[in-house]
Amino acid sequence: RSMHSPRHLLSSADLSAEETAYLLDLAAALKRRPQKVLVGRHLALLFEKASLRTRVSFEIAMDHLGAFTMYLDPREVGLGEREAIRDVSRVLARYVDIVAVRTYGQSIIEEYARFSSIPVINALTDEEHPCQALADLLTLREHMGDLRGRSLAFVGDGNNVSTSLVITATALGMDVRIASPPGYQLPEWAISEASARAAASGGSFRHTTDPVEAVRGAEALYTDVWTSMGQEREAERRKIDFAAYQLNAALVAHAKPGAFIMHDLPAHRGEEITDDVFESPHAIIFDQAENRVWAQAAVVAFLLGADRSIER
Ligand code: CP
Ligand code: NVA
Repeated sequence: RSMHSPRHLLSSADLSAEETAYLLDLAAALKRRPQKVLVGRHLALLFEKASLRTRVSFEIAMDHLGAFTMYLDPREVGLGEREAIRDVSRVLARYVDIVAVRTYGQSIIEEYARFSSIPVINALTDEEHPCQALADLLTLREHMGDLRGRSLAFVGDGNNVSTSLVITATALGMDVRIASPPGYQLPEWAISEASARAAASGGSFRHTTDPVEAVRGAEALYTDVWTSMGQEREAERRKIDFAAYQLNAALVAHAKPGAFIMHDLPAHRGEEITDDVFESPHAIIFDQAENRVWAQAAVVAFLLGADRSIER
C-alpha cells in the first residue's frame, strides 16, 4: 500500500466542484449499467448510530460492483470506548480496503481518518452527510437536467444534512436558499463555504430565518427532522423552536407550482413535514433514497481508483 495518506470523503467540502460533478456522472453511468469493477475488494461499515438507507444502500452498491461488505453495528465496536479510535482504525485497515463510518462528532471521524491507511467515507456525522447530498443532487439532476441556475430551498435545522446539501448544491451552480430558526443556523464555516462555491460556480446562496423568503418561487423544497440522532433530549424544546418551519401546504404555496418535495428520511410526519406534502405527487423522496446506491457506488469506486475502468 502507498505510504501517502489516502483520499477520504469526510466532508462535502473535500470534493471540488469538478469532482462533485464527475461523481454524479459516474453515479449515473453505474445506475444505467452496473459494472463489476471492485471484485476482490472489501468495505467495512462501522456504524455507531441506527440506519436503514445508508447501511442497505452501501451493501447493495457493493454487490453491484462485485465487492464484499461487512457491517459492524452500534453495539459491536465501541469506538473510543472498548478500544481507542486509532487502534480500531489501524486494525480495520489490515482487513479491508475502505471503510464507511457513521458516528457522532466530526472530530471522531477526523481522528479515525488520521490513523487510516485506507480511504474513510463519512456515512453521517453530527456535522455532515456527504453521501446523502450526492444522492440528492443526482436525483435533482434526473428530474431537472442541468442544475445551473435552478433553485433549491431547505427549510429547517442547520444540521448535517443541510450543511452537506448547501455545499454540494452551490458547487453545481444552483440558486440555494436555507431558512432556519435563530439559534439553529448553519455553522459559520458552512455559510462561507457555500457562499464561496456559489460565487465560483455562478450560483447563489442565501440564508435567512424567514421560511417564506427562502421558499419563494423555489423549484425544489427540502426538509429534515428537527431532532437529529443524539439530540433526543432537546426534542421538546425543538418542537417549539421549529414550529413555524414546517413544510406544509401553506408554505409550499409560496414555491413555484409543481416544486419538487425532498426529504432524506426518516421523516416525522406532522413535525417537519405534513402528511399531504410528504405524499404529494411532486415528492421525489423515494428517488433520493434509491439514488443512495449509485452515489455511494461512485464514491467507493472513485476513492479506490477504480473509476477509470468504468465505462460512461
Ligand atoms: N437518510 C439516511 O441516511 O437514512 P438512514 O439514517 O436510515 O441511513
Ligand atoms: N439529521 C438526521 C439525518 C438522518 C439521516 C440525523 O442526523 O439524525
